[in-house]
Amino acid sequence: MTSNDPLLQPYQLKHLRLKNRIMSTSHEPAYSEDGMPKERYRLYHAEKAKGGMALTMTAGSAIVSRDSPAAFGNLHAYDDAIVPWMAELADACHEHDCKVMIQLTHLGRRTAWNKADWLPVLSASPVREAAHRTFPKTAEDWDLDRIVGDYASAAQRMQAAGLDGIEFEAYGHLLDGFWSPATNHRDDLHGGSLDNRLRFTWRVIDAVRAAVGPDFLVGIRMVADEDFEKGLSKQEGIEIAQRLASSGKFDFLNIIRGHIDTDAALTGVIPIHGMPSSPHLDFAGEIRAATKFPTFHAARISDVATARHAIAAGKLDMVGMTRAHIADPHITKRVMAGEEHRIRPCVGATYCLDRIYEGGGALCIHNAATGREATIPHVISRTEGPLRKIVVVGAGAAGLEAARVLAERGHKVTVLEAASQAGGQIRLAAQNPRRRELIGIVDWRLAELERLGVEIRYDIWAGLDNVLALDPDAVVIATGGLPQNPPLDGGDGLVTSSWDIIAGAVKPAENVMLYDDNGGHQGMTAAELIGKAGSKLELLTPERFFAPEIGGMNHVPYMEAFHRHGVKITINTRLQQVRRDGNQLVATLVSDFAKGWSEERRVDQVVVEHGTLPLDELYLELKPLSKNAGAIDYERLIHGGDIFPDKNPDGRFLLLRIGDAVQARNIHAAIYDGIRFGLRI
Ligand SMILES: Cc1cc2nc3c(=O)[nH]c(=O)nc-3n(C[C@H](O)[C@H](O)[C@H](O)COP(=O)(O)O)c2cc1C
Ligand code: SF4
Repeated sequence: MTSNDPLLQPYQLKHLRLKNRIMSTSHEPAYSEDGMPKERYRLYHAEKAKGGMALTMTAGSAIVSRDSPAAFGNLHAYDDAIVPWMAELADACHEHDCKVMIQLTHLGRRTAWNKADWLPVLSASPVREAAHRTFPKTAEDWDLDRIVGDYASAAQRMQAAGLDGIEFEAYGHLLDGFWSPATNHRDDLHGGSLDNRLRFTWRVIDAVRAAVGPDFLVGIRMVADEDFEKGLSKQEGIEIAQRLASSGKFDFLNIIRGHIDTDAALTGVIPIHGMPSSPHLDFAGEIRAATKFPTFHAARISDVATARHAIAAGKLDMVGMTRAHIADPHITKRVMAGEEHRIRPCVGATYCLDRIYEGGGALCIHNAATGREATIPHVISRTEGPLRKIVVVGAGAAGLEAARVLAERGHKVTVLEAASQAGGQIRLAAQNPRRRELIGIVDWRLAELERLGVEIRYDIWAGLDNVLALDPDAVVIATGGLPQNPPLDGGDGLVTSSWDIIAGAVKPAENVMLYDDNGGHQGMTAAELIGKAGSKLELLTPERFFAPEIGGMNHVPYMEAFHRHGVKITINTRLQQVRRDGNQLVATLVSDFAKGWSEERRVDQVVVEHGTLPLDELYLELKPLSKNAGAIDYERLIHGGDIFPDKNPDGRFLLLRIGDAVQARNIHAAIYDGIRFGLRI
């Protein structure tokens, strides 16, 4: 039966038939190895292809020149060795009728000189880029000649690999560096008038066309309004879009609004949770109307309803749902099956993107299979081994994920939860109104558990008796942890936990000090809530910079709140002790750097954040009764085989401990524990 869902209608892009309107825009997940898209990269895209999307745009900013060194694992499009790797990736996606393109770029000033070949980084003019702390050199004539040629040969490589097309990246990189008055101060043939500022772009597209011919699809992901005073105006952006569209040299536009040279600006282009949904969709629609040209766009179009609206309302021809597919690569399949409600939601946490800027690979906060397709399946199949009766203690992130995976495998699962609601620390984190979308991580799992017939018993502080009464074959301890104080010389009883502030159990006092030597969201959330409550707050950390566990994009809204509410930040300073003085507290501060230095602060409340201590009592009680005495064979966990060593012939069940019940970590680690151990029972 043919569907009349606007999202599922095919789209004809020149000669290319895209089977529906759903795509993933270019993004570098930093899965490359030696600059090549090897197995991990291929499996990642092949999974989306299996999931039914029409077009996956690979790489993000695959680099065309050596003086554009990889900033976050970018693919080396300048190297012939990439051709067979890209060909294999394209074949793997084409098998599912998913078309494949790649984004090519010269990063310009958006990279660093002290990487790869240590070549100088360049731009239209020597304007510093804050995000990479680069002072670029002015691109010379011989640089431009060389780079034009590099674009052409990179495009040829992609054509040779059997890709369906390419797009140029033109926001925050070299090409648009010439367009923007903020970064182009030249007085030669490449500066001044719009004709001059577009000259380099024309040279690049002409060389590429000469190399790949008129039929290979070439588009441009372009900024059409930098949205700041000194930047490219909307008026000029539309003018550029119209000129490129009517030139007959390009096949599609992929629209960007904003600029990306600071973390704060980047979140305008790629908003995180708590920021507006689809903020630039209408703008992209305006460009489509002004150019009457194939238009793509992505920016926090996370749900199917918004994506459908984008197509139905004629704002876009292809809708990018990029992070949404990192969270669930099978969105289209679900839409086709009438199972939209089962899509694992992208909750906007942007753990994925923050990780690549910290030098890691993109990982989804609550889909541990993404980027791990070689070892963790996105679709859990039934076990061929014995079906077991399993008790999961704790319905936080780790416990819910373990229960979901175990139930998918066909086991009979009962969950015991001490609280009256599931979610553990996620529910706590979602108390921050700005981060309330996080509860989607819990709600999605609860819905899946209901579908799978898993019983959750609430308000049970599970002890030995509760567990043994269920006569389990396996027990999963996912009891989480409880907040602990930092080591203090005195005043343990005088401090307030960050959790109590976040949960609303303790109100922020008038004059507060918050000491955070954990560096994650817990301390920052407490600080945000204290600031917003109108208290005077000093945030203190012994680290070189505050909140080191939080990436640049998640940093932005915290810092905004701190500025707006006058939160004072003190780094490199340790809390030594707290004492009472009248109805106030006196905090003694010391320094790791200057022995003997100390200062005092007089405040009404000292809030502390020092991670959690595992709630492991039940685990320790169950250990001697279990077959494996709680032990896990890590070699087998990683390389395959039975992970439960036989330690106790009289043991009655297998015993596993996961998530923060083992050690204080984060949501992704808890989810990863839940699935990777769940798959092994
Ligand atoms: C891990 C990651 C890396 C990205 N790298 C690039 C990139 O190299 N080039 C690019 O144009 N966009 C890049 N993006 C941005 C995405 O293409 C997309 O514009 C953005 O995620 C907003 O769309 P979404 O809300 O559907 O995720 C990246 C996004 C992510 C999540
Ligand atoms: S980490 Fe967050 S933003 Fe990124 S894909 Fe997962 S849910 Fe979406």
